[in-house]
Amino acid sequence: MSAPDASPPPPPPPRIRLTDRGPLLVDGPVDLLLPDGTVLHCDRPVVAVCTCRRSRRYPLCDTSHRGHRRPAPASAPGAPSFPPDGSGQTPG
Ligand code: FES
Repeated sequence: MSAPDASPPPPPPPRIRLTDRGPLLVDGPVDLLLPDGTVLHCDRPVVAVCTCRRSRRYPLCDTSHRGHRRPAPASAPGAPSFPPDGSGQTPG
């Protein structure tokens, strides 16, 4: 009789949700590695990472993107729209 395998299942892969006009939503907790080499540890269950660079809390989204909407880019034929399943929304 062999011993039962006691190793836990591997954790799920990190999940990052792209939104069409807002931040990247990253399942936390997460460490953000910044260009200057510093690490920003975020304990939140979902971390909103700014993609517009207008945030006063960059690299974290402070919802400044809401007042500065860019026109939707012309999509290439056959290109998927984001989010593909229509479920992603910016926070708020
Ligand atoms: S994505 Fe830049 S402030 Fe929200």
